[in-house]
Amino acid sequence: MAEGLVEAGGMVHCLDRLTEPDKAFTAAKERIPKDSEGGLRYHQVDVTQDKELEKVIAGIADERQRLDGLIAAAGIQQCTPALDYKVDDIARMLATNYTGVFLSARACARQMYKYKIQGSMCLVASMSGTIANRGFVAPVYNSSKAAVLQLTRCLAMEWGRVDEDGGGGIRVNSLSPGHIMTPMVEENFQRGEADRDEWENNSMLGRLSTPEEYKAVGLFLLSRASSYMTGHDLKVDGGTTAW
Ligand SMILES: NC(=O)c1ccc[n+]([C@@H]2O[C@H](COP(=O)([O-])OP(=O)(O)OC[C@H]3O[C@@H](n4cnc5c(N)ncnc54)[C@H](O)[C@@H]3O)[C@@H](O)[C@H]2O)c1
Repeated sequence: MAEGLVEAGGMVHCLDRLTEPDKAFTAAKERIPKDSEGGLRYHQVDVTQDKELEKVIAGIADERQRLDGLIAAAGIQQCTPALDYKVDDIARMLATNYTGVFLSARACARQMYKYKIQGSMCLVASMSGTIANRGFVAPVYNSSKAAVLQLTRCLAMEWGRVDEDGGGGIRVNSLSPGHIMTPMVEENFQRGEADRDEWENNSMLGRLSTPEEYKAVGLFLLSRASSYMTGHDLKVDGGTTAW
């Protein structure tokens, strides 16, 4: 999704807790043509750390006196039956999947208000926020994604109107992907937590998706192409939730 925004001319900053960016980031950066208006930058930050996150995001906005969009995608997953789930593990999951999204959205909204930018946000939820994935035992992950869906509606309502100072007018939507072949899912298959055939079968298209299939979706949600859309959950799940 970051690459799609760069191709459209955006200066995109990727934030992750990894000390070095993932190899997919480096590969995407290498694909950017030399004469491109857009660019890709990396910042190491943990989205659960409010002060550090605020600082990084404020620094990004101050550079160009603007901040136009956010895709909040940091997430973790854990497959454990509810009967055995440890209380610390529940807190850890919610700290990233819910609080991290909340803090990211708030830090960006503060900059959009400051610079009077009518920006747009895409909060990455999951189809697992709407359905209990058959046979996939991840009760806290699934409900953390349901929390993102409700957060989306609440933030869309709070930040939607332009106020008398010219701040606001911010759109907030969520994205609910279906199964995507990413390191998270590869791990699920390796650990035997999910069955690839079954997941393929869950989709009306009979296959998993690839990260590239979300490129245009990110661009649509962050651009004026979706100018009258807010508080909405966009499902891109190969029909898995539509049977
Ligand atoms: N892969 C799927 O099938 C699928 C389906 C629906 C939704 N999603 C969601 O899409 C998003 C991306 O998932 P993915 O499959 O690419 O997973 P991934 O594990 O491959 O990538 C997640 C990234 O988030 C980062 N991260 C985790 N905790 C962080 C923190 N506290 N601070 C900063 N960065 C942090 C990780 O370092 C990693 O780079 C997640 O929110 C996930 O829940 C994935």
